Amino acid sequence: MSLDVVALRAQFPALLGGAAHFDGPGGTQVPTPVADAVHAALVQPTANRGATTQAERNADDVVLGARRAIADLVGGDPRGVVFGRSATVLTYDLARTLAAGWGPGDEVVVTRLDHDANVRPWVQAAERAGATVRWVDFDPATSELTVADVAAVVSDRTRLVAVTGASNLIGTRPPLPAIAGVVHAAGALLHVDGVHLTAHVPVDLSELGCDTFVCSPYKFLGPHCGALVAAPAFLETLHPDKLLPSTDAVPERFELGTLPYELLAGTTAAVDFLASLAGTSGGRRERLLAAFHAVEEHEDALRVGLEDALRELPGVTLWSRAAHRTPTLLVTFEGRDAADAYRYLAARRVNAPAGSFYALECSRHLGLGDTGGLRIGLAPYTDQDDVDRLLDGLRGFLAG
Ligand SMILES: Cc1ncc(COP(=O)(O)O)c(C=O)c1O
Repeated sequence: MSLDVVALRAQFPALLGGAAHFDGPGGTQVPTPVADAVHAALVQPTANRGATTQAERNADDVVLGARRAIADLVGGDPRGVVFGRSATVLTYDLARTLAAGWGPGDEVVVTRLDHDANVRPWVQAAERAGATVRWVDFDPATSELTVADVAAVVSDRTRLVAVTGASNLIGTRPPLPAIAGVVHAAGALLHVDGVHLTAHVPVDLSELGCDTFVCSPYKFLGPHCGALVAAPAFLETLHPDKLLPSTDAVPERFELGTLPYELLAGTTAAVDFLASLAGTSGGRRERLLAAFHAVEEHEDALRVGLEDALRELPGVTLWSRAAHRTPTLLVTFEGRDAADAYRYLAARRVNAPAGSFYALECSRHLGLGDTGGLRIGLAPYTDQDDVDRLLDGLRGFLAG
């Protein structure tokens, strides 16, 4: 199947605003069924989760439905899906919980490819526990982070390796299954930041081989919340700080306070919307895989054309170079500030922000300091007209 982008775009009221959105890596636009689901959850009778009143059952159904949706999306177990405020909060919570078992002599591995949300929580937790932090570098010339790079720092002292599924700055997708092999052979845990990855490709956690995984629905057409996914049996072994009266069941043990039911309803709707891109026949997991293959094909076709055109532009450096990557391009301009390009484009209603987007270590390692560059992110709703407008805008900027 291929993606019907015209039909898809018609479902996004925000696109009627007329801007070409290349800001998806910061958060995508939202289709009508997601907004409708949030609204429906807010206007139906709702109470705290329970089984006695309809209002309680409604809240319970919303939570259980969202766990099933995220599990279908990433090939996980619904009983191992934890919801939270954001991937950042969930990673901090997990790091604090795991670090309770770390001490001097233990090592924790982070990478310079990662968003800071998958760096600082581990660094700070390790430092507090007296554990040592080891860094994995990527190659700025190729944008690649290889399994050998990881193997070089992993040892029998390693307790955990935190690595991204895909860089939100330059798109690089490290070889996770091979990395998982190295990490597990050393007896360590693998945590994967799937926030950027999950928006672009079919995800199968058993194939990736990680122990814990986070993603954020607002990056894949859904509302602003986060999800952590792990095997329920693994979650059973962890004991986060929690309130005395709250349940100690898994996964609720990890969910502090009352969940945002309306956002979870929207999350399910986003997953259903993505699945619907592959039609209505077959199970949701199966349709999600087909839909993401189509999304990948669509985004890749646009990316290749865009990159060819960018290479023709004078003084433009493209930093996204890995063989295996998402359609997220970081570019800089010789002698010109990316922030000026951002403003020039914005005035022409082409939204492609400039910055380092919290991938601070990555930007610094590329030699771009804290400033970064212009980030051009493709999304399922991006079309050729958007790309043409972007290129026209960049030509105008460079001619000015
Ligand atoms: C790769 C990556 N990881 C983590 C995050 C943080 O996600 P959240 O906003 O859900 O904390 C982002 C957000 O941009 C991201 O792109």
